[in-house]
Amino acid sequence: MMKINSIKGMHDLFSSQTQNWKQIENLLHNFFDIHGYGEIRTPVVEKADLFNRVIGDETDIVNKEMYSWKDQGGDVLALRPELTAPSVRSYIEHSMDKRNKVAKLYYIGPAFRRERPQKGRQRQFYQYGIEAIGSEHPEQDAEVISMAYNIFNMLGVENLELVINSVGSRETKKKYSKILKEYLSDNVEDLSDVSKERYAKNPLRILDSKSKEEQNIIKGAPSILESLDDSEKKHFAQVQRFLDKLNIPYTIDPQLVRGLDYYTLTTFEIRTQSIGSQDALCGGGRYNNLVEQLGGKSIPAIGFAAGMERLMMALNLDKQTAEAKIDVFVISAGDDAVTNSLKICDTLRNQLGIKVMMDFTRGSFKSQMRQANKLNAEYVIILGEEEIKRKVGIIKTMSSGEQFEAPLDTIHKHFDVEHSKDDE
Ligand code: HAM
Repeated sequence: MMKINSIKGMHDLFSSQTQNWKQIENLLHNFFDIHGYGEIRTPVVEKADLFNRVIGDETDIVNKEMYSWKDQGGDVLALRPELTAPSVRSYIEHSMDKRNKVAKLYYIGPAFRRERPQKGRQRQFYQYGIEAIGSEHPEQDAEVISMAYNIFNMLGVENLELVINSVGSRETKKKYSKILKEYLSDNVEDLSDVSKERYAKNPLRILDSKSKEEQNIIKGAPSILESLDDSEKKHFAQVQRFLDKLNIPYTIDPQLVRGLDYYTLTTFEIRTQSIGSQDALCGGGRYNNLVEQLGGKSIPAIGFAAGMERLMMALNLDKQTAEAKIDVFVISAGDDAVTNSLKICDTLRNQLGIKVMMDFTRGSFKSQMRQANKLNAEYVIILGEEEIKRKVGIIKTMSSGEQFEAPLDTIHKHFDVEHSKDDE
C-alpha cells in the first residue's frame, strides 16, 4: 500500500522539539500575563468572509493563499490565515467592550497559508500575538510595539531591526493612493502583471513589491508620511517619542504598508538577518476600522503577530535536541518482577513525582540496560528473578556503577529527597 505523508509545508514536531517549544511558550504565557493580556483560543476554522472582508481582495493572503472550501451545509469556510480577524470576531460576538475599556487578548496557535514553502515559510505555521482593542492613543501603540520587541530582546535574539511607519487613516490612504498612482503613471508599462493589477485596484500594495526593478521605480515615490494630516502626524510623533523613552531603537520606512489591508496609522515589523530571506520575525499595526467593518462599533485597536518557527530559528532552537533524561528506569525479569515493576513505577510517579520508565518489551537484561542508557537514566532498579524471590531490588547509580540492595516494599523511599533529609 502506498504510504501517506504529511502535506507539503506542514510539519510534525517531535518531543525533541516540543520540549523547546513548551519552554518558550511558557515564557510567552508569563510575559503576556504580567502585561495584563489574557489568552484567547478561537477555532481554527472560520467563515471565509471574515477574512475576505478585512484582509483585502488584492492581498496574496486572501487572493491565492487561503485554504477555503464549501462545507456540506453550503457555508464557505476557511482555515484561518491569521488570528487578528478571529480575535475581533470574538470580541464583537461576546461584547467584550462591555467588560473592559480596553480588551487585551493574546494567542498562540496555528495559522494556514498556501504559500510556496521554503526556509521560514510554511503552509501551517504557529503565530503568537496580541490584540489591544479599545484605545486610540499612541501610548497603546508604544506598549504593543515595545512588547513585540522586548520578547525578542529578552530571549536574546540578535541583530533586531524594528521598522515603523504610519499609513494614516482610510481617507489618507485613499488620498495617497491617488498621489502614488500619478507618480507611477509613466511607469505602468514597466510594472509586473501583478503590480499592474494592483495599480488598478490597490496601488499601495505596489510599495510592498520585492522585485528590484520595481523597487527602483518606487524609491523615488512621494512618501506617505507627507500625506498624513496634522493629527496623524502628531500621533506618529508621539509613538516615536514613547519608543525613545522606552529605549526601543527603530528606523522609519515610509514604504512599510504590510501585506494586509486593514491597517491604519502605525504599522511595524521586526526583522533579523540571522534567519535567512524570510526575515520578518513579526508584524503588526493599528486597525482602527476593523471592528466596525466586522459589524461592531467604531472601536480602535492595535496588535502584532509573530511566527513561532521563525523565533525558534532565531534562537537556534529549531534543531532537534537530546531527549531529556529520566530519573529511574526499572529493569525486570519474569512475571512477578513485572508486577513489582508496575507497582514501583506507580509509587515513584504518584507519591514522589519522579520521572520513571520501565521496560515494555520483555527484552533481555542487556537490552533493557541499553534502553536505560539510551534514555539517560540516572538510576536503574533491577528486579531479577533472584531478587524477587528474596523480596529485594537492586538500585544502581548509572554514572558510578555503584549499587546496593533494598527491600522491595520500601525501595521507593531511597528516592524520597525529603525523607532522606530527615534521616540525616
Ligand atoms: P503577518 O505579517 O501576515 O501579520 O504575519 C505575522 C508573522 O507571522 C510574520 O512576521 C511571520 O513571522 C509569521 N508568518 C507569516 N506567514 C508565515 C509563513 N507562511 N510561515 C511561517 N511564518 C509565517 C499578521 O498575520 C497580522 N495578523 C499581524 C497583526 C496582529 N496585525 C495586527 N494584529
